[in-house]
Amino acid sequence: MDKIVSLCKRRGFVFPASEIYGGQGSTYDWGPLGVELKRRVKDAWWESMVYSRRDIVGLDSAIIQSPRVWEASGHVGGFSDPLIDNKTSKQRYRADHLVEGHAAALRAAGKVAEADALLARLPAALADHAALHRLILEAGIKDPASGTADWTEVRQFNLMFKTHVGPLESSASVAYLRPETAQGIFINFNNVVNAARTKLPFGIAQIGKSFRNEITPGNFVFRTREFEQMEMEWFCRPEEAPKWFAYWKERRFQWYLEHGIRPERLRLRAHAEDELAHYADGCADVEYEFPFGWSELEGIANRTDYDLKQHAEHSGEALCWFDQERNEKVVPYVIEPAAGCDRTAMTFLVDAYDEEKDGDETRVVLRFHPRIAPVTVAVFPLVKKEGMPEKAAEIERELRRRFRTAIEENQSIGRRYRRQDEIGTPYCVTVDGDTLKDDTVTLRDRDSMSQERVAAADLAAALDVRIAAWKRPQAAPVA
Ligand code: GAP
Repeated sequence: MDKIVSLCKRRGFVFPASEIYGGQGSTYDWGPLGVELKRRVKDAWWESMVYSRRDIVGLDSAIIQSPRVWEASGHVGGFSDPLIDNKTSKQRYRADHLVEGHAAALRAAGKVAEADALLARLPAALADHAALHRLILEAGIKDPASGTADWTEVRQFNLMFKTHVGPLESSASVAYLRPETAQGIFINFNNVVNAARTKLPFGIAQIGKSFRNEITPGNFVFRTREFEQMEMEWFCRPEEAPKWFAYWKERRFQWYLEHGIRPERLRLRAHAEDELAHYADGCADVEYEFPFGWSELEGIANRTDYDLKQHAEHSGEALCWFDQERNEKVVPYVIEPAAGCDRTAMTFLVDAYDEEKDGDETRVVLRFHPRIAPVTVAVFPLVKKEGMPEKAAEIERELRRRFRTAIEENQSIGRRYRRQDEIGTPYCVTVDGDTLKDDTVTLRDRDSMSQERVAAADLAAALDVRIAAWKRPQAAPVA
């Protein structure tokens, strides 16, 4: 991960936030290339979810909604983590993470039965703070920072960021920054049905910022307190929910493969009963094998009719769909594929990173799918004279209408290729002396480093063919 984090800073993908003031822990800003990468991720998601289909429409709901939304959804009462403090070190931990960490240490020490017994008590203890506290004391769990067991009681900590709307800070002005975009979709169910005349089954898709006061953010941009989500709520007849749950698990898994993620690092994992959120009847995670282990990329859940019923009850407004053919009201079930944009962008970065021997040097290359790469094609004049810069600018201007482009004039061609490899640009075009005679250019491929002569007029078509046919090459191990 260190190499990727350093490349991200150096080349302008991701910067530590508030850096000139010493930083704001676990918070990041996306730089010029990072913002392009995220835009590609969002475009690819929107293309697959909205533009390529007739049964899903988009929405962009507010971040700050009525606090009653979060009471109805269960987030005010239930969206919390159990915390415990160590009085000696003044460190705060998630109590369940402490137990899991201790179990992992026992397992590593060969005490498998003891580890299993400890984990078996965890689900029940999570429902009862006193029991969780007892479990930590009885297992003799020590604070990793101080080595003491000087623990406070376990307390519940709500993950929603609280703020106040308007000039007065009182209990009447409390509002929350949304912890998921999904609720904005549920509360607009009737508006969308009436405006867009949607019929079951149909979906509402949304991309936007969410906020969670995470206790243990970390692993670069994997878990942060402010992040973008890409969520789609698929409304269907209750009896069809199992069919659509299976469909969306498969569709979403394929989306990552279609965009070049290595299949051997991707898996779909069904949640165990005790992992399910309070609203879910079934859930599966698309997981990726990061350098720090297998972790969730996206969750696909069967949320049943829980949310629509909760909002109907709390608001007094019926949230259902009228089936004119059968002359009946249906409260739809909801299948939800919920992904994180920052986490997906980070996955593309991690997955694309490659090093290979090139002569005496090591070539660093990001093997992004051409549809995900921040820059699709870079154009170089071989030298900064004899009309080559002008010709390169003309070609770049033409390509810019269809592709994301860059132009580079300085340093040797070899250095310029390396710089583009390092940011994942799949194609480079070089304008040289022959270009001025016969209007052909060199088209160089990032992955194979092969070069071909192509007529400048045919460049766009040649790029289209290559992008459509792109396949990730087998990585050669670094010698
Ligand atoms: N509406 C359902 C929901 O929000 P979730 O599993 O809590 O489900 C969905 O979040 C996705 O949002 C996750 O799979 C992850 O990609 C992303 N996500 C959640 N919390 C995050 C965080 N703190 N930092 C970055 N991404 C996060």
